[in-house]
Amino acid sequence: MIYNLFFSPTGGTKKVAEILGNAMHIEQNIDFTPAAVKLDSLQLTEKDICLISVPSFGGRIPFSATDKLKTLKADGAKAILVTVFGNRAIDDTLLEMKDILTNNGFICIAAVEAVAEHSFVRKFGANRPDAQDQAELIAFAEIIQKRIADPDTAAAEVPGKYPYKGFKGVPFHPAADANKCVSCGKCAKVCPAGAIPMNDPKTTDPDRCITCMACTVHCPKGARTLPDEVFAALETKLSAVCAERKPNKLY
Ligand SMILES: Cc1cc2nc3c(=O)[nH]c(=O)nc-3n(C[C@H](O)[C@H](O)[C@H](O)COP(=O)(O)O)c2cc1C
Repeated sequence: MIYNLFFSPTGGTKKVAEILGNAMHIEQNIDFTPAAVKLDSLQLTEKDICLISVPSFGGRIPFSATDKLKTLKADGAKAILVTVFGNRAIDDTLLEMKDILTNNGFICIAAVEAVAEHSFVRKFGANRPDAQDQAELIAFAEIIQKRIADPDTAAAEVPGKYPYKGFKGVPFHPAADANKCVSCGKCAKVCPAGAIPMNDPKTTDPDRCITCMACTVHCPKGARTLPDEVFAALETKLSAVCAERKPNKLY
């Protein structure tokens, strides 16, 4: 069985995973973004192949995804690791993925870093993955399929270094505009961190929130946003490191 497992709060990682997955004739998609979706009951064997995709947050795997990946046990199954980033850098995300998944019994035969829109300021990486990205990702998938078919394929080398880049989350969180919010609970449903109570969706638990921006993208009323001054500061900060087009890479 070929699985496509992805964690994608605002949809960019899902787009990349779908392009690669379609080219690899995926048989089962598992979106493990919602807090309720767990990975611990998946029974894998050495015949299985998993395309596993997460975004890079601060050069690392998002906390909610890390916890789930640690429970994903493989018995010699092959993994293709994918890190999607907002046109800055992935730092140690692929290395962290490889370490966790190798420890869980996977053979990580390939890894991809690919660009999508930056979920804080979407003009960085705007409209990516675009047609050029799509062509590159499909070409990567062809190479990956040859590696899958080759019984001598060894584990791929991935970028990154020890100790991993320190990332403790960011000190700001999206807030609901009480005048726009209709308490429909959509944000609470999509929140991967369980940070928005279903019975009080105008609030956010700052200790749980991973600032993934899922609530801002999925709110049908546009009621959830970052504070204006935070957004302006992010735009300035990211323009120094995200402006130039970054390439996709296969390892
Ligand atoms: C908390 C947070 C931290 C991020 N850190 C980085 C980063 O270090 N490097 C980068 O290039 N993009 C970074 N991004 C951008 C995301 O990696 C990028 O937008 C990705 O496409 C998000 O995936 P999604 O659309 O599936 O949610 C960050 C985004 C968030 C929300």
